[in-house]
Amino acid sequence: MEIVHIAAECYPVAKAGGLGDVVGALPKYQGELGHIAKVVMPMYRTKFLYNNDWELVHEGNHQIGPHFFHYSVIKEKTNKLGFDLYLIDINGLLDREKIYGYDDDTERFLAFQVAFCDWLNKWQHKPDVVHCHDHHTGLIPFMFKHCFEFRERLADIPTVFTVHNGQYQGWIGWEKYYYLPAFDSWKWGMLDWDNTINPMASAVKCAWKVTTVSNSYLGELKESANGLEKLFDYEQGKSLGILNGIDTEVWDPLTDTMIVKNYDKELVEKGKQKNKRELAGQFGLDPDKPLISFVGRLVGEKAADLLPDAISQSIYQHHGNANFLVLGSGDPALEDKLDQMKHQFGGYFNSYIGYSEPLSHQIYAGSDFLLMPSRVEPCGLNQMYALRYGTVPMVRNIGGLRDTVTDMGDWQGFGIRFDQPTVWDITYSVGRAIDLYNNKPDLYSWMRGHMMEIDHSWDSSAQQYIDLYKSLK
Ligand code: ADP
Ligand code: GLC
Repeated sequence: MEIVHIAAECYPVAKAGGLGDVVGALPKYQGELGHIAKVVMPMYRTKFLYNNDWELVHEGNHQIGPHFFHYSVIKEKTNKLGFDLYLIDINGLLDREKIYGYDDDTERFLAFQVAFCDWLNKWQHKPDVVHCHDHHTGLIPFMFKHCFEFRERLADIPTVFTVHNGQYQGWIGWEKYYYLPAFDSWKWGMLDWDNTINPMASAVKCAWKVTTVSNSYLGELKESANGLEKLFDYEQGKSLGILNGIDTEVWDPLTDTMIVKNYDKELVEKGKQKNKRELAGQFGLDPDKPLISFVGRLVGEKAADLLPDAISQSIYQHHGNANFLVLGSGDPALEDKLDQMKHQFGGYFNSYIGYSEPLSHQIYAGSDFLLMPSRVEPCGLNQMYALRYGTVPMVRNIGGLRDTVTDMGDWQGFGIRFDQPTVWDITYSVGRAIDLYNNKPDLYSWMRGHMMEIDHSWDSSAQQYIDLYKSLK
């Protein structure tokens, strides 16, 4: 099959979170299954762009409302990522360093999607499926079906839309409706949710199939989807959950070049100890105490706002018997608070505010526990990285966390689970972690060995997507 993935992120080209990891891995595994998988994304000005060789494959012109733009499509020459990578360049809109966070993000991603449709409309052949990821590409299924200039050639191309995060929906005011290429106005309802153009809702309505990144999340969206609950309930017949995998080549403690000591299941104790000593040294922490870390976006969904209180409570209540480390960026007030706390709790807590891919690897390798108290977690990849690196996940019982982590109190359980995203639940779980670390060496060592053996590679999920695409032919 020929599969075209379209997304705003793709590791290692540009990544802000798990979306990038998924789009950088799934196509590679689909390629290994014998399919042709392609990725199309915006040409941001990232290191990857400057360090690789490209060929020009297409140029075109279009407009969004009053703004005319020229776009070009370039392709990475060597196929080094294991799939064909195409970048769409639009000067003035996409030629920026960051992926998101600009005032004109609406125009940027709209122009990106329009350029993609315009380019695809000129292909000599049709791909078997176009797979769109999250709201930045959510208007594509609508445009294929209902925009006059595209529908003749593109309407019969099957589309799959994956919801990585239903919280962000890409809302566009109706006053900008004419930014879309002319469409059949009878179909305006396929764009609308609650009197706004809602790209996430439009994709759920118009895509041939909808997937979510875990099975639990599929069910939860009917109860809590930032306003789209009824829609997810209504469209359940064409929706299914497919759990994300992880790229086991990038995330392998035995070959990871970003950590100080490589290890596998047999060498896990010594290997982790070495990594921990290095990390503890770097952050002024005590390597003999259990190290509990957090890696992630400092936003409400991740319940990162609870970290300051949960960490200080845990330090007081458990008499400083655990150390804490936070790597993250996001809410500026929270960033400041976590930055200041390191002076108040020196020797017990430290933080790195910012984004650092190498440090994230070092934390998965050098920590004993990884804390994820998320309020919403569609899948979560961090806990799967932690498992592979022999780090016990401490997770809230929700979404993909519920589908991938069992509690050590249960039969063959290998993690620590709690029910509520509250300071109390976190503090209590920290107590369980300290007890495991200090008093239950056999269980702890069994858990580590067991979790490192769990197969979270993409093999099975990549095949599930292929089966889904085939059902659309
Ligand atoms: P989400 O996509 O909601 O942020 P995931 O758990 O799916 O959550 O994926 C997060 C990804 O982003 C992981 O690869 C994680 O290591 C990475 N990450 C998040 N914050 C940072 C950071 N500050 N520095 C480095 N990597 C980060
Ligand atoms: C989103 C979700 C996260 C998921 C990731 C990749 O950003 O918040 O839970 O793992 O997408 O699908």
